[in-house]
Amino acid sequence: MIAVAQIVQAVDLTALLALSIKEAEDLDASNPLRHFFASGGSSGRRTPKQADHALLPSQPPSISRQTTQLAFGREALNGRLPIPISLAVDASPGCGGIAWPAGQVLAKYLVDLGPESVQGRRVLELGSGTGLVGLVAAALGAQQVCITDQLPLLDIMRENVLLNDLAANMTVMELNWGEEIPQDLFPLDVILAADCVYYEPAFPLLVQTLSDLVTDAKTEVLFCYKKRRKADKRFFALLKKKFDWAEVTDSLDHEVYSREQISLLRLRKRY
Ligand SMILES: C[S@@+](CC[C@H](N)C(=O)[O-])C[C@H]1O[C@@H](n2cnc3c(N)ncnc32)[C@H](O)[C@@H]1O
Repeated sequence: MIAVAQIVQAVDLTALLALSIKEAEDLDASNPLRHFFASGGSSGRRTPKQADHALLPSQPPSISRQTTQLAFGREALNGRLPIPISLAVDASPGCGGIAWPAGQVLAKYLVDLGPESVQGRRVLELGSGTGLVGLVAAALGAQQVCITDQLPLLDIMRENVLLNDLAANMTVMELNWGEEIPQDLFPLDVILAADCVYYEPAFPLLVQTLSDLVTDAKTEVLFCYKKRRKADKRFFALLKKKFDWAEVTDSLDHEVYSREQISLLRLRKRY
C-alpha cells in the first residue's frame, strides 16, 4: 500500500533539523538494521542482484512515498523570495531516500549566499539521495547541475528533478565512489557533498572520488558533515592526505547547526 502525504512548510532550519533527526532516530529505533534490509519490495527500485547481496530479506519500508513542499529562505531575512522545492522522499531505495540534516544545512547555505554562489557555474553533487542540495543549486540558476548517487536512488532523484521542473539544467547520473569519473563531466566549478560520512568502508572511496573530481585549484568544494561516530575521525585522517579544509564562517545558521554536531567545510586539494 502506498501512502502519499502533502506537507507544506517554510524551511525553518531549527525545526527542519529537529524533524529530520527525529525522523531518522524514529526510523532507527523502530528498525535499527534498516540500512541492511533488501528493501524496495514495494517500489521495485532494488535490482534482483542487489537484493541477493543484502543481509536480510525484504522488509516493509518505514517512509513510503511522501511529497513535502519546502520553501528555502525568508524575504524578511535577506530580501530574496523563498525558493520553493517539492521533495519526494521514500526510504525504500536506501538511506538516501530521505532528506538528511547536513543536506538541509548545505541547501540553506546556498540559498543564503544567493544566486551568485552558483549562477553560470557547473555543479556536481555526490551522494545526492533525494537530490535536495542539487535541486536548490539548479533553482538558484546554476548553468548545469549533475546529481549523482548509487543506482537505487536514481528514480527518486529523477522524480524530484521533474517535480521541480528543472530538467533543463539538471542531469541525474549513477556515480559510485571510487569508480572512474566519466570525462564528459568536466569541467566542474563546484562540488557539493552532504551527509556522506557514515559508512566506514566507503571512506577511502569517497576521498578518492573527491580528489578525482577536483582537477583545478579553482574548483570549490562544499562539504557538509554531521558527526555521528568516533570512526568519523578515520575519514578525516584519510581526507587530510589529499585536502586541507576550513570551516565556513559566513553562514547565518552556524550556531544552530553546530549544536547538532554539523560542520560545513570548504575543502582545498593539496597539490
Ligand atoms: C546519508 S545519505 C545523504 C543523502 C543526501 N546527501 C542528504 O543530505 O540528504 C548518504 C548518501 O550517500 C550515498 N552513498 C553511499 N555510499 C555511496 C557510494 N559508495 N557511492 C555513491 N554514493 C554513495 C547513499 O546512497 C546516500 O544517498
